[in-house]
Amino acid sequence: MRQRTEIQRHFLDPCAVRRVPLTRPLVTGTLPPFLAAGAFFDRLLTPLETLSRERSIFRKTLLAALPMLLAGCGTGPDWRTLRPVSDFGRLGSDVYGDLIWWTLGIFVVVELLLLYALLRYRSRRDESGAPSQVHGFTALEIAWTLVPAAILFFIAIPTVRTVFVMQGPPPGGDPMEITVIGHQWWWEFQYPELGFVTANELHVPVGRTVNLTLTSADVIHSFWVPRIGGKRDLNPGSENRLWFTPTEVGQYHGQCAELCGTSHANMRMRVFVDDSATFAEWAAAMSAPAAPDSAGAMTFLISGCAACHTIAGTPAQGKVGPNLTNVGRRTSLAASLIPNTPEHLAGWLRTPDSVKPGALMPDLNLDEQRIHDLVRFLEGLR
Ligand code: CUA
Repeated sequence: MRQRTEIQRHFLDPCAVRRVPLTRPLVTGTLPPFLAAGAFFDRLLTPLETLSRERSIFRKTLLAALPMLLAGCGTGPDWRTLRPVSDFGRLGSDVYGDLIWWTLGIFVVVELLLLYALLRYRSRRDESGAPSQVHGFTALEIAWTLVPAAILFFIAIPTVRTVFVMQGPPPGGDPMEITVIGHQWWWEFQYPELGFVTANELHVPVGRTVNLTLTSADVIHSFWVPRIGGKRDLNPGSENRLWFTPTEVGQYHGQCAELCGTSHANMRMRVFVDDSATFAEWAAAMSAPAAPDSAGAMTFLISGCAACHTIAGTPAQGKVGPNLTNVGRRTSLAASLIPNTPEHLAGWLRTPDSVKPGALMPDLNLDEQRIHDLVRFLEGLR
């Protein structure tokens, strides 16, 4: 039996015609309006295989892009790069702010010209055949070369000026010097003027310029606290600088922004911008940490923890892992991955690798009694 076929036309290009095997019933008679509409759109949407393939790719791309677009609307107050809380962050966002308005103006002009051309030169009823062709139009070609060049030049002026300010020395005198050292996968913060070291939670006083010296103990990391501004690389064997003056008291999240190994995504930090009284109290506590109880300190020593960690005021002086002086005061553990609670700390001591994959902290096979003792000891360091 001969197979029945139907003619399909491309709805954008009526000349593109092909005959395809009939796979759906021929529409005969009168259809209810909603079915007729369905059949019409069905035909519109599947006139040719290539077109339907393109449509499917388009739909999939749209679906894939949607979460990324929505992520930009994040409600977390910590991640809004466009609402900076430092002079450094403001410099960058001001340039972006200006450029958005400029490019919006350019967009409007281009779209108006396009609309004018579409309407003015549209095909008329009494016209047939191809329109008269134009080859070469020197004035127009010069214009569309010079105008974009001029736009780029004017965009470069504020951009280059801002880059020089951001890369330059910190404004004003007497910045607070802090050294940041990146490790797989945590942050070390040294306060040379104040004489102490901490990890993963950076405290700075509001209104005072901070001058960070950034370097790395192993591979390349990148310091990024979106609301403070950034990013800046931490390179092993050399030093980078980043200054900022925090303008708003608060707690801001940061994240390593350079792929640095298994737990790169887990290399987080928190920046606490404190009012001057809070900062002074924190710095005083860090400078003169509470004397740890000796039984707890002994457990810490004999469990093997002291080989890697320092606790001021105890014989524990390891330099490989984060400095744990006053660790009980921190809000988070494991580079800001988990909240600092006895339960989470116990879980971290039991199986570090399950909390932070690839963590260099070994599983010391601690029994429950020792974990209990260590948790009590560490949480008491405040
Ligand atoms: Cu450190 Cu990514």
